[in-house]
Amino acid sequence: MKIGVLISGRGSNLKALIEACAEPGFRGRIAIVISNRPNAAGLALAAAAGIPTLVIDHKDFASRETFDAELDRALRETGVELICNAGFMRILSDGFVEKWRNRQINIHPSLLPAFKGLHVHRRALDAGVRITGCTVHFVRPEMDEGPIIAQAAVPVLPDDTPETLAARVLEAEHKLYPMALKLVVEGRARVVGEHVVLSDADGGNVPAALFMPSPR
Ligand code: GAR
Repeated sequence: MKIGVLISGRGSNLKALIEACAEPGFRGRIAIVISNRPNAAGLALAAAAGIPTLVIDHKDFASRETFDAELDRALRETGVELICNAGFMRILSDGFVEKWRNRQINIHPSLLPAFKGLHVHRRALDAGVRITGCTVHFVRPEMDEGPIIAQAAVPVLPDDTPETLAARVLEAEHKLYPMALKLVVEGRARVVGEHVVLSDADGGNVPAALFMPSPR
């Protein structure tokens, strides 16, 4: 399956996906990495891995729709079958999202549906939650909504700052995103009635929840 990864910055999740795709037998290949920001550090990570990169700078477009049309054109031209948002910090138009319905996934650094949007770790600390985490889900027009594929639970510790908590959650993201992508490229995560049904047709188990650290 040809994958297009959308980024806006650092690209640490992109790196985890590049490593996953390099595993023997992995059924997905990253065909292109597209950034809406010319200075995104993730672009260099992709180039170093020999993956074609493209900058589509949103500042060059008069409207969200014209930016999204160019993004759609580039993805189709590359033959992309699945989009992975990896720290892509731009809202996509409803039209774009509908075109890629069930063929676009996203990672968000909270246990959705809690803490959608920005400043999630600050808000988790303010709320006093004991557990937070991250979620990989199919993308829908409403921000940070859509059928959940996989989640990881991460403890909140007494002395946490938004930064220490973000670092702990990010470590979980780097494990969860490859796991969820594997389920999708193997056709083992199907959307049925806006829930994801996992199948173990290959005879293997279907891990879609992580606990970090593991309780076992
Ligand atoms: C990650 O924590 C990702 O979950 C988050 O941005 C960060 C990107 O880091 N995404 C969102 O908040 C999307 N709503 P990275 O560029 O190092 O992968």
